[in-house]
Amino acid sequence: MPTGHRKIIIAIDGYSACGKSTLARSLAKRLRYLHVDSGAMYRAVSLYVLEHKVNHRDVDEMQQALNHINIHLSFEKDGQVTWLNNENVESAIREPRINEIVSDVSTLSNVRKAMVAQQRRMGKEKGIVMDGRDIGTVVFPEADLKLFLVSALEVRVERRWLELQNKGIDVSKEKVKENLLLRDQIDSTRSDSPLRKAEDATEIDTSYLTPDEQLQIAYDLARSVIAREVE
Ligand code: DC
Repeated sequence: MPTGHRKIIIAIDGYSACGKSTLARSLAKRLRYLHVDSGAMYRAVSLYVLEHKVNHRDVDEMQQALNHINIHLSFEKDGQVTWLNNENVESAIREPRINEIVSDVSTLSNVRKAMVAQQRRMGKEKGIVMDGRDIGTVVFPEADLKLFLVSALEVRVERRWLELQNKGIDVSKEKVKENLLLRDQIDSTRSDSPLRKAEDATEIDTSYLTPDEQLQIAYDLARSVIAREVE
């Protein structure tokens, strides 16, 4: 065990395409912790909404739908796999059609309540790195280490655009930028658990840091917290 005996909870929040999931995944790997990408759960709910033509703005209809939604995460060698009602939806939840509605679906309090309850259960054993929008503020306000990632808009656009290109999805940078700005706005202005930096979070600007440099910063911070924990 390279990091002492007590395990901690690490929360990583920030705007879309700032590199949260990449950093969370590599940090968890280095610490031999579990990595949970909480956004995948909101994406899975959005997939259900699209496939079952649920009017998510109707509270009762959405509540009915939630009663039929069972999200399960499994943790395999290559990382997290998201299951919706026993179907592997890991690839479907990354499609652009999901990006169009996921922020909207994530504003709904009944959806958030269900997801947060499940996320909190995952933190019971500690030894977890969870990334999202409200992890340090709502899901684990008691997290031992909180990171908040920010990045210049142009860098985020480039990053998300490249990601899509690599998947063979051809969209203009302008369209990517529009979607990011819209999601930023919805995520940070919603009334239930808006995206914001927790007071005790450490901000990291990832614009001009390589993934390895980001990992080193986060790992050093985690090590110092763990060292304090075992004193
Ligand atoms: O991290 P991501 O892009 O996969 O997240 C998709 C959406 O899910 C994001 O626009 C807002 C929402 N989300 C949230 O509201 N709370 C979280 N903890 C994680 C994601």
